[in-house]
Amino acid sequence: MAKTMRFQLTGGNKRPLSVDDYRRLARRSVPNMVWAYVDGGADDMATLAENRAAFGRWKLRQRVLTGLPAGEDLGVEIGGVPLDLPILLAPTGMTGLTHWQGELGSARAAEQAGTRLVLSSASTYSLEEIGAGTAEDHWFQLYPWRDKELMGSLLTRARNAGMQNLFVTVDVPTHGNREREQRQGVTTPPVLTPLRVLDAAVHPKWWYGFLKYQRVSLANMAEDKGWSQAVATVRKQSGLLRPDLGWSDLEWLRDQWKGAMYVKGILDPDDAVHAIDVGADGVVVSNHGGRQLDSVPASIEALPGIAAAVDGRGQVLLDGGIRRGTDVIKALCLGADAVCIGRPFLYGLAVDGEDGVSDVLRILRTEIARALTLMGIRKVTDLDRSWLLPNEEIAP
Ligand SMILES: Cc1cc2nc3c(=O)[nH]c(=O)nc-3n(C[C@H](O)[C@H](O)[C@H](O)COP(=O)(O)O)c2cc1C
Repeated sequence: MAKTMRFQLTGGNKRPLSVDDYRRLARRSVPNMVWAYVDGGADDMATLAENRAAFGRWKLRQRVLTGLPAGEDLGVEIGGVPLDLPILLAPTGMTGLTHWQGELGSARAAEQAGTRLVLSSASTYSLEEIGAGTAEDHWFQLYPWRDKELMGSLLTRARNAGMQNLFVTVDVPTHGNREREQRQGVTTPPVLTPLRVLDAAVHPKWWYGFLKYQRVSLANMAEDKGWSQAVATVRKQSGLLRPDLGWSDLEWLRDQWKGAMYVKGILDPDDAVHAIDVGADGVVVSNHGGRQLDSVPASIEALPGIAAAVDGRGQVLLDGGIRRGTDVIKALCLGADAVCIGRPFLYGLAVDGEDGVSDVLRILRTEIARALTLMGIRKVTDLDRSWLLPNEEIAP
């Protein structure tokens, strides 16, 4: 990131040091409509807040004089893919609204950091564009929709574009109630008032990229990436959601996809077991970043029970509320094999495109490595429950 821009955005001589610094800068980098979309949650946003608060209830154990070298080994293997750090970029729809470089810039930043992007089926760059524009094989996320032919063709395209593994997101039988978005006119079609257009125009860097590159439609469903298809493709996807999904739909997807398949949006141990029973390679403990059903538990709270129920029969990932390296460590201690981040990389993207995402990943990597060293532990795969103090609010 250009030093001058950091200077201006922080209004001082500081560069962003943390994910929260990026959040503050991101708030100023995009119009209110985009901010409501990226940062908001469902209903009263209680689960969104809990996703953060719950991490604070766990305390790390610190050992000293261990005679061990610095904690620098952050490598894990997820879905048969060795990653240099235990963080994937979560699938986020319409990422080109945050910054025109969208999913492509994010995928490039991920692979430079030795990890992968999970490409949302609601992405603003197509599967083929990601395949052609990156060096590594990234991952794909699919909603189990009403239209099997469309799902089948997307999976074929994903395979041909080199997508290695699949997330199936099961917590969106219908859209969550995101009032903050609605108040800002983030509807289909969007409600554009003179004030909102002015708000966009006073973010000239964002506005320029938005107008010039037009990353505004669901690229996997559009003939043309520009304005003409934006509303139509979003409407099309919304119409494909199915409230009457069943485990047989997941079995069908399992048959279609030969790579590793993770079921995302699991909060209940019985559902996790069911997912593994029908052939999933793992689950993603997630409440969709507090964007779907409000008042469900924080994902970190749901994690221990799910990890115990899965009992090593599959991998367990977690997302929701990760903002610090110590959050990643706590998740791994409680049974996660790796985590995903959503908003943190979007904050980086909003501030400085691909470079901003790279910097967010660098910050988290540095924080994890430093915390491991301070705890007296060498590699992330050595983390387990014994590295957390008993949490009085949650049964062990
Ligand atoms: C703007 C935005 C769009 C999202 N779109 C999708 C999506 O298309 N598919 C999906 O499975 N999850 C989607 N999610 C949820 C994320 O994959 C992830 O579960 C969540 O962001 C994790 O919480 P965090 O933002 O606190 O890291 C989205 C999240 C955000 C913030």
